[in-house]
Amino acid sequence: MIFGRVKPLDAILATAEKKSLHRSLGAFQLTMLGIGAVIGTGIFVLTAEAAQKAGPGMMLSFVIAGFVCAVAALCYAEMAAMVPVSGSAYTYSYAVMGELIAWMVGWALILEYAVAAGAVSVGWSGYVVGLIEHTFHLDIPDLLTRGPFDGGMVNLPAMLIAALVTWLLVIGTKESATVNAVLVLIKVAALTLFIVLALPVINMDKFTPFAPLGFSGISAAAASIFFAYVGFDAVSTAAEETKNPQRNMPIGLIGSLGICTIFYMLVAAGVIGTVGAQPVAGPAGEVLAAGSPALSQQCAALAAAGTEAVTCSKEALAWTLREIGWPQIGNLLGLAAGLALPSVILMMMFGQTRIFFVMSRDGLLPAVFSKVHPTYKTPHVITILTGIFVALFAAFFPVGILADISNSGTLFAFAAVSIAVMRLRKTDANRARPFRTPAIYITAPFAIAGCVYLFYSLGIETKLMFVGWATLGLLVYFGYSRSRSHVGRGVVDVAEDDAGIPPQPVPPFPGAPTPGGKDA
Ligand code: ALA
Repeated sequence: MIFGRVKPLDAILATAEKKSLHRSLGAFQLTMLGIGAVIGTGIFVLTAEAAQKAGPGMMLSFVIAGFVCAVAALCYAEMAAMVPVSGSAYTYSYAVMGELIAWMVGWALILEYAVAAGAVSVGWSGYVVGLIEHTFHLDIPDLLTRGPFDGGMVNLPAMLIAALVTWLLVIGTKESATVNAVLVLIKVAALTLFIVLALPVINMDKFTPFAPLGFSGISAAAASIFFAYVGFDAVSTAAEETKNPQRNMPIGLIGSLGICTIFYMLVAAGVIGTVGAQPVAGPAGEVLAAGSPALSQQCAALAAAGTEAVTCSKEALAWTLREIGWPQIGNLLGLAAGLALPSVILMMMFGQTRIFFVMSRDGLLPAVFSKVHPTYKTPHVITILTGIFVALFAAFFPVGILADISNSGTLFAFAAVSIAVMRLRKTDANRARPFRTPAIYITAPFAIAGCVYLFYSLGIETKLMFVGWATLGLLVYFGYSRSRSHVGRGVVDVAEDDAGIPPQPVPPFPGAPTPGGKDA
């Protein structure tokens, strides 16, 4: 029963064969694609969150999270190259482990994509509000720029950006390859500038105590900072257009993750060594939980006393630059974040609508979800619905909580894919694999163990939220989806027409063809 209702791989692959893509991407383009998709709110905003959890030890957290992502990415890439169709982890699981697991993975991907889009919207809001306040010497009330858990009432700017991106997606906006390349440049330039200005003035004394909350603090920060690496699946899903994927995929994946890890560690060192990164403690000396109302209160008290800490900042990197005497460059970095982060929201929301679209096309969600707008040719119903949820998450929750919840879903999906890859090596050993995960029986178990370890290191509230979400998913599956499933009713081919799917918003790289039927 658990592994029943497998969707035949050949039926899924029939779609891919219909639209095989020109192989044009080399290792360099793949690496750039990965860097562009990965750098976002994680490094710009969650650095403060990680400092509150681990102190200077967050440098180690970046390495741990990067390693787990690297091994998971290598597994993901084998699947993506073998089953290059819509739906990513959901589709792979359908083919290998059956409908129930696929449903659970798809359900978890809602957390990955929609909640992550909310998190990035909140991160964007922090930087843009800071930029406006510092440029125009204004004091925008926290009540309107922060959610209720964060010392405010509603985060209006975050809602606004989510609504704007929704609208762009409804009218079928496609980010051009040039815009994508420019945004990569802006992000990398902003981080490089930060490193160049911060590293020369670091004070090694600020690195001690290195792990004020022990290894559990470092693990907790790794589980949160995992968010900073999410998005590399954009590389895995480009397998179909990669020249010599067996060589270039691992270079692209490990290269982009490795470069991001080095950037992240240098940025973290810059923050720690200049403004310090010791966790903020409460009045009784107790360390306060990141993202908690108690921390917000303590931060407000510190601000009133003129002794702010980086862990309190909503724009950690811009704040650090202002503190070390570069206020204008701090504002410039805020501008860079303000310009670049919406493209991350766009990719996340696009990914979400695509997953819903495929699940609806498989009969597991209502058919109206895959309705396509007559003029714009976009799945407008599901895009607007997704946009409403993203805007609500963004309006009322702090970025750290949203990122952690998103991570729980992502870790579940990555673990499922890693299991699926190993299983398929046994059950379908002879199928053509354009890319084979190196040392699969070492890499995949590492990926699974890494996902389990990071999931375990998430906060108890996040884990409970995940369990609640999964339970709700099971209720929906058994109450609605199971009886309507196309596979369950013996209708397979109907579900394999991708014609109604809108184009991918971010083509991999200037000059590369735009994939027509895969996830962003
Ligand atoms: N890795 C992406 C970010 O940090 C999701 O915003």
